[in-house]
Amino acid sequence: MSAPKKLFIKTYGCQMNVYDSERMAEALGGEGYVETKSADDADMILLNTCHIREKAAEKVYSELGRFKGLKAEKPDLKIGVAGCVAQAEGQEIMRRQPLVDLVVGPQSYHRLPEMEAKARTGEKVLDTDFPEEDKFEKLKNRPKAKRGPTAFLTVQEGCDKFCAFCVVPYTRGAEVSRPADRILREAQDLVERGVREITLLGQNVNAYHGAGPNSDMTLAQLIWELDKVDGLERIRFTTSHPNDMQDDLIEAHGTCAKLMPYLHLPVQAGSDKILKRMNRAHTAESYIRLIERIRAARPDILISGDFIVGFPEETEEDFQATLDLVEEVKYGTAYSFKYSTRPGTPAAERAQVDPAAADDRLQRLQALLTKQQREVQDSMVGRDVTVLFEKAGRFPGQMVGKSDYLHAVHVADCDRAIGDLARVRILSSGANSLAGALIE
Ligand code: 5AD
Ligand code: SF4
Repeated sequence: MSAPKKLFIKTYGCQMNVYDSERMAEALGGEGYVETKSADDADMILLNTCHIREKAAEKVYSELGRFKGLKAEKPDLKIGVAGCVAQAEGQEIMRRQPLVDLVVGPQSYHRLPEMEAKARTGEKVLDTDFPEEDKFEKLKNRPKAKRGPTAFLTVQEGCDKFCAFCVVPYTRGAEVSRPADRILREAQDLVERGVREITLLGQNVNAYHGAGPNSDMTLAQLIWELDKVDGLERIRFTTSHPNDMQDDLIEAHGTCAKLMPYLHLPVQAGSDKILKRMNRAHTAESYIRLIERIRAARPDILISGDFIVGFPEETEEDFQATLDLVEEVKYGTAYSFKYSTRPGTPAAERAQVDPAAADDRLQRLQALLTKQQREVQDSMVGRDVTVLFEKAGRFPGQMVGKSDYLHAVHVADCDRAIGDLARVRILSSGANSLAGALIE
């Protein structure tokens, strides 16, 4: 038998790309590939790219340029570009960088084995279609390898919201939900392979509406179905849109014990003028009321958010409204970004904010969010939480895991194994993690 071919995948961007990279590795596993951590000994390199912010496409081109020497040494090396830059740039990638053998959009990963075979014959292959067939079904024949205790599971993809700054509706396409029976089968399979916590993924996950015979199923109903899976201990989901936060999902946060008290609910900005121009279809006030309702259902829930500063026509007053909203909500964690122009999106045509002003606003917002994050983390000291252990710590006898609230927790003198859940008393709060002790 010939030696296995080696596959190096570099993943940029969101958790869905992490999930997709796993699926691509499995699809190519069927063609005799095993994953390697180094590009130097790879027979195939795949860049799974992100197009959401900054100069993502330029980064991909510069990364590709670095493979020139490698390809000269190893003419059989195949180089592919996947993900949202592949979708957005298509043929342009091969024109600008002749090193590239294969370009595959996010909806075509199940076709990778055929594409790889074609590329091996020296052909350049491109697939950025939005095919009708269910790529998840086609990606199913994977080996029953053991898994770590946490996993992502894509339940929904694409977005119909068309926020004025965002490329997702163009690169990932229209909103599509996966049939619940297939999701449940995949969850069951993950649990049999050692998974204890599943994070349901979707660009607009709470718009989940089922498909096939269950085409009116809500995300909450799906969560309740997953709640019945024996051996599955924790359920999370991301990312949600405020306008799809339905009553049954809010309620589930109070009643479903497996649903973790953590919610990523991006607001983007605090000024109604800017929210309107962003096409967000909610106001600052409606968002704050929504958070109140969620907290009424689950008082200890940790709220996480996304923010954009320097959106076209944002004034200092508009920015102040974002700071006010943050003060009111109090975030346990947050991601904040300077607006970056995405060609083809409506906001790209509008008057841009002075970059120095945007930098200054980003710094001020991040200072406030960091302070809040710290306060929320520090408030855990003295409390008892449940920790799912994910790996051994740096010191002998130490284990590291995540609390229900997704804080990293270090536990010394810990006789538990990876994948175990245990009650832990939080003793101190460090720079980016908590330390605690097992409660006997
Ligand atoms: N510029 C800056 N941030 C953006 N995001 C999406 N598009 C842009 C853009 N053009 C941010 C939003 C979104 C997160 C995933 O990325 O905050 O919620
Ligand atoms: Fe992009 Fe999210 Fe808006 Fe959809 S809801 S367009 S993914 S920011």
